[in-house]
Amino acid sequence: MSEPHPRTVVVLAAGEGKRMKSSLPKVLHPLLGRTLLGHVLNAAEPLVAQRTMVVVGHGADQVRTHLAEVAPESTAVFQAEQLGTGHAVRIALEAAPEATGTVVVLNGDVPLLRPETVRALVAAHEGEQAAATVLAAQVPDPTGLGRIVRDDAGRLRQIVEQRDASPEQLTIREINAGIYAFDATRLREVLGKLSTDNDQGEEYLTDVFELLVAAGEPVAVHLAADHTETLGCNDRVELAALRRLLRDRVNERWMRAGVSLLDPATTWIDVTVALDRDAVVDQNTQLQGGSVVGSGAVVGPDVTLIDTVVHAGATVLRSHAVGAEVGPGASVGPYAYLRPDSRLAEKSKVGTFVEVKNAEVGAGAKVPHLSYVGDATIGARANIGAATIFVNYDGVNKHRTVVGEAAFVGCDTSLIAPVEVGAGAYVAAGSAIATDVPPGALGVTRAPQRNIDGWVARKRPGTVSAQAAERAVQSASSEGSAAREGEAIHGTAESVGTAAEAGDTATE
Ligand code: UD1
Ligand code: MG
Repeated sequence: MSEPHPRTVVVLAAGEGKRMKSSLPKVLHPLLGRTLLGHVLNAAEPLVAQRTMVVVGHGADQVRTHLAEVAPESTAVFQAEQLGTGHAVRIALEAAPEATGTVVVLNGDVPLLRPETVRALVAAHEGEQAAATVLAAQVPDPTGLGRIVRDDAGRLRQIVEQRDASPEQLTIREINAGIYAFDATRLREVLGKLSTDNDQGEEYLTDVFELLVAAGEPVAVHLAADHTETLGCNDRVELAALRRLLRDRVNERWMRAGVSLLDPATTWIDVTVALDRDAVVDQNTQLQGGSVVGSGAVVGPDVTLIDTVVHAGATVLRSHAVGAEVGPGASVGPYAYLRPDSRLAEKSKVGTFVEVKNAEVGAGAKVPHLSYVGDATIGARANIGAATIFVNYDGVNKHRTVVGEAAFVGCDTSLIAPVEVGAGAYVAAGSAIATDVPPGALGVTRAPQRNIDGWVARKRPGTVSAQAAERAVQSASSEGSAAREGEAIHGTAESVGTAAEAGDTATE
């Protein structure tokens, strides 16, 4: 009964997809984490086929490059001219003369197909020992698709294309999904007999059914329960519709798995993303590639994560992250940009208008406002004041900055790499630090402040500033202060050390 069936998968992907109006071959257009072709290959994966052949033609080099990435075990078969779906399958089988058992053919532009549907089709086909089985669906609008023509007893007689159909056949709403299982031997026999006697002058794979019926071979129809699985993609309007359908399918799966999606209609999760129970995703959020969101983490609103891991209990708000890792309980945003290899340790904070690249932010460390952190290691519990810039690039090379544990860097500081601020060291606000600050020391590079009295009255007379200054001076003098005449320059060198020591060097 259940002797093993060797299987061969043939994916048809040589067409141009004219109506996409794109320099990218149609099957390479992306759809929530995979290309159209990638989705189809994924749907065929559970078949554990001996070989997977992909018929390529238009944009063959691009498609081959993609296959090398996503399905390196597959074989590309080149179809120089697109002479029809029957011709495509014929040359694929000619390239695999050893293939026996079941041949599963899938159109490369039917990306919503579920693996379990392909499995069920093949199981039915092999169980019935049919010569050919077609996946069909009842659809609300069959326009443009091949129709399943049955006889009075309900048996499949032929598949007729829209453009070759009679008015009566056009009323049929049962369509050919473009997914089939064939017995290899019997398929080979009839593929050689296909004519091009049709409206497009092509070899239609669908004509195989009529030929098999005429030869008295058993053919079957397998009906898809969910007709949206069989939708093809011919232009960008259809691609957008497919994207919405897949979004809803993915979102429903995650909600049923215990993830809160506060606004599923604006939440776009790639099929390759993983979320833990009790993760919360707020509106306008895109989770892409290999991103992962842990339990109790809150992501969104207005967040894009690409290949980014957000650990349990972390928060990411109105931010963009690529190739980053956000540690347990860490907080990101609003308006942060995490670039590749940003690693935020447990309970650290990257706040508003902060950009991080190739940097480690230690446990409990804070970079709360308006900073650039590039090529750096920040120790645990360090505090980086507002507007601190890690100056990592000298115009030719990138250099690294190390900030030690519990160090305290004042606002508006430049840390000019390579440089190290030791553990527990302080840096005075407004400093440009180019040499190491030892542990526990205060680093300060600020010039002494000087005030030039009366400068505005002399250099900017008549301005609103001059008028305001005059009023202030008058009211001060009317309060009994002695008005000063002439010009004086006051150096306040002593103020630098005292200000820093008084702790005006950072924000929280
Ligand atoms: C095909 C079916 C139609 C079915 C529909 C489902 C035929 C004759 N018709 O029509 O019954 O309802 O799919 O979507 O098969 N391709 C090649 N080489 C070729 C021609 C096509 O690789 O020479 C590939 C295309 O890239 C595409 C697939 O085969 O991925 C289907 O071809 P397409 O031209 O889209 O066929 P449809 O007209 O959609
Ligand atoms: Mg098509």
